[in-house]
Amino acid sequence: MKNLVVLTGAGISAESGILTFRDMGGLWQQYKIEEVASAYAWHNNPQQVLDFYNLRRKQLDKVEPNAGHYALVKLEHQYQTTIITQNVDDLHERAGSSKVLHLHGELRKVRSEHNENLVSTLAGWELKLGDLASDGAQLRPDIVWFGEAVPMINTAITIVKQADILIIIGTSLSVYPAAGLMHEAPIHCPKYYIDPNANQQSAPGLITISDKASIGVPRLVNTLLQSE
Ligand code: APR
Repeated sequence: MKNLVVLTGAGISAESGILTFRDMGGLWQQYKIEEVASAYAWHNNPQQVLDFYNLRRKQLDKVEPNAGHYALVKLEHQYQTTIITQNVDDLHERAGSSKVLHLHGELRKVRSEHNENLVSTLAGWELKLGDLASDGAQLRPDIVWFGEAVPMINTAITIVKQADILIIIGTSLSVYPAAGLMHEAPIHCPKYYIDPNANQQSAPGLITISDKASIGVPRLVNTLLQSE
């Protein structure tokens, strides 16, 4: 089986009703990154950070995967498929994808603020001040904040280096190291980029598909399933 790697960003969840970050009306137009998504914010105003992630976690119970998520699952019949996502939602898993790597963490996971390896799944949607990890430290969202290291990046690079096909979906390619992953793919590996603004990117060898995920992903998946 050929190795197929999919890199996804907030755009694949947009049609499920989850706001992206940098589109019109996106999250970073409503919140300041340094106030809700940084270690400084956590130190300075932890309740504001908890409120930001509690709101997004609560929304998870009200949204469903869309045709883009479901189409990717069909690839698993024919390809060794790995999803590397920047997203912290669980829509890939709920659609049925069996191999998902979250570069930036997961909304439903929480961890000790002193030990990043003490991770647990939050029951319900609300994390409160006073909720403690097994080491007695305050629990925090298990999310990679701006300025923090991306623990899974080397694993992701190793996976992309072995790709026979690479599909990039719904990301502005503006946050590193995630945005640099496409350059780790082998030279022979076709790279597809599905995004309404795909034609604004000009990376070498990128096959751009300027479409939204719910249309562009099923279409490409059907083509790939017929081609082998
Ligand atoms: N289908 C596909 N793509 C879409 C759709 C859609 N229906 N709607 C919007 N998009 C695209 C936009 O054109 C844009 O390129 O999704 C992308 C969203 O870009 P961003 O909001 O920057 O999201 P993302 O690239 O995932 O951000 C990367 O930045 O803030 C951090 O940690 C956060 O993981 C996030 C990272």
